[in-house]
Formats: sequence, structure tokens, C-alpha cells
Amino acid sequence: MDQTSPASNASVALVTGAAKRIGRAVALELARAGFNVVIHYHHSLDEAHATAAAIQQSGHSAWLVSADLNDATAAGQILQFVQQQAGRLDVLVNNAAEFTPMSLDNFDAARWQQTQQINLVTPLALCQAAAPLLRQQRGVIINFLDIAIDRPWKNYLAYGASKAGLEYLTRALARALAPEIRVNGVAPGITVFPDDYSDEQRRQLTSPVPLQRPGTPEEMAHAVRFLVEAPYITGQIIRVDGGRLLV
Ligand SMILES: NC(=O)c1ccc[n+]([C@@H]2O[C@H](COP(=O)([O-])OP(=O)(O)OC[C@H]3O[C@@H](n4cnc5c(N)ncnc54)[C@H](OP(=O)(O)O)[C@@H]3O)[C@@H](O)[C@H]2O)c1
Repeated sequence: MDQTSPASNASVALVTGAAKRIGRAVALELARAGFNVVIHYHHSLDEAHATAAAIQQSGHSAWLVSADLNDATAAGQILQFVQQQAGRLDVLVNNAAEFTPMSLDNFDAARWQQTQQINLVTPLALCQAAAPLLRQQRGVIINFLDIAIDRPWKNYLAYGASKAGLEYLTRALARALAPEIRVNGVAPGITVFPDDYSDEQRRQLTSPVPLQRPGTPEEMAHAVRFLVEAPYITGQIIRVDGGRLLV
């Protein structure tokens, strides 16, 4: 864990999995909105440094914290870092996730547990560990879900179940943490493809989308910012899917 710049008194956001892709866009958008940002990452050290540098160029502070969210102690360690380095927390974005193919035919109990730990249990532990700091600032939690919560996929059982569980927690925690902390979710449709997807797979996923293209990380980040800045919205899930669920 290391620090890349000194703190100021500005509001602080913690974004998990913020080194690249959607998490990076969220971190940059929140910096544009005036936040100092704690960038959590696991393996992507170089990309995390690049995200921090971009935030510092915009005049805000950025800190890097590395942790494996499959480790049951990760949430406590991350929040201890936030408390010690940033001294406050206004926004928690649970963005990091593992996207694991798993059908009934290749069900793997150990892999199932790992996906639930990373995508569901540790995000809940982060909400719990962050609550005292968030409460002081009347803060916000944003959980990243997936439109798979509405349209189950038979080949992503562990991933889909973890996101459906996180949707439930989003709404339940909105009640449990009110009135001081708001809790909302963003459920993207297809946005950034896994690197190994073929052109044909990309076409198949995009062709049923009424808006005829994937979303962009920046469009997901705008939804996060909207929810952060919407003081009377809690317990809501915004689907950002180009209309995919209509089809
Ligand atoms: N991409 C899409 O089209 C799409 C569609 C629907 C929903 N979503 C949701 O939107 C969010 C962001 O999507 P994305 O595609 O940008 O995510 P991603 O690239 O698949 O993953 C984001 C980050 O999660 C971190 N991560 C994975 N396993 C981890 C672990 N064990 N410990 C700590 N960090 C771990 C990785 O950090 P390191 O790289 O540092 O290891 C990774 O960069 C996710 O919650 C995803 O489920 C995405």
C-alpha cells in the first residue's frame, strides 16, 4: 500500500478495481466532481499509477491501495488505509469484480466461493467497515451490478448470482444505513468486452442493443456521478444498457 500525494480537505471517494476500464473512468469522473480518490487495485499496479497521475494532473489527491478482495481481511485493511491516509470517506464505489464463466456442467464449488467472496461478501464487508466514516459525511455507496440481474445467463451462474445478491444488499442496506448514508446501484449492459472476445462475439452481443453500440466507461461513470449528486435517491438501481432490456 502506498501514497502518491498528500491529502487536502476535499471530499474523498474510494473506488475498488480503479486501475483500468470502468473503475478508472469512475475514479476520473469523481475527481472531476471535486473528490480526492483512493484507488484500490489488485494486480494492475502500472495502470493504477497511471490513474493516480491523471487525477493528480487534475489538481486532486490520489492514493493507491492494493488488496486481494478474495481475502476476508481485505475490507478492514482497505478502510484502515483510508482512515489513516485520507482521514475521511464520502463515497464508496464497489466496482471490482470477477467475471467467471460457470454453467451447471462445469460447476466448481471453490470457484463459486471465490466469486461470491470477491463480488458479494467483500463488497458487503467494505460497506460495513466504511459505514462509520461515511456516516460522518452523510456519504454514499454505489454498487456495480449488471443487467444480468434481470436477464439470467445460464453460463455465468456464479457471477450472476453474486450480482443478484448485491442488488438485494443495495436495497437492504439503503434501509439499514438510512438516513445518514444513501446506497444505490449501477447496472451496466455490455460496455467493455473481455479482451479475449472475438469480433463475432462482440457483434452478437451488440446487435440486440437498440442503441446499436456498447456503452462506454465514461457513460457508466456519469451514472455514478448522477447518483452521488442526487440527495433524495436511495435504494435505486439505474440500468445503463442502451435499451438492451427492452428487447
Ligand atoms: N465490462 C462490462 O461490459 C460490464 C457489464 C456489466 C457489468 N459490469 C460490471 O461493472 C464493473 C466494472 O466492470 P469492468 O469490466 O471494468 O471490470 P473488470 O475489468 O472485469 O474488473 C475490474 C477490476 O476488478 C479487480 N479485481 C478482480 N478480482 C479481484 C480481486 N480478487 N481482488 C481485488 N481486485 C480484483 C481487477 O483489479 P486489477 O486489474 O488491479 O487486478 C480489475 O481491474 C464490474 O463490477 C462488472 O461486473 C461490467
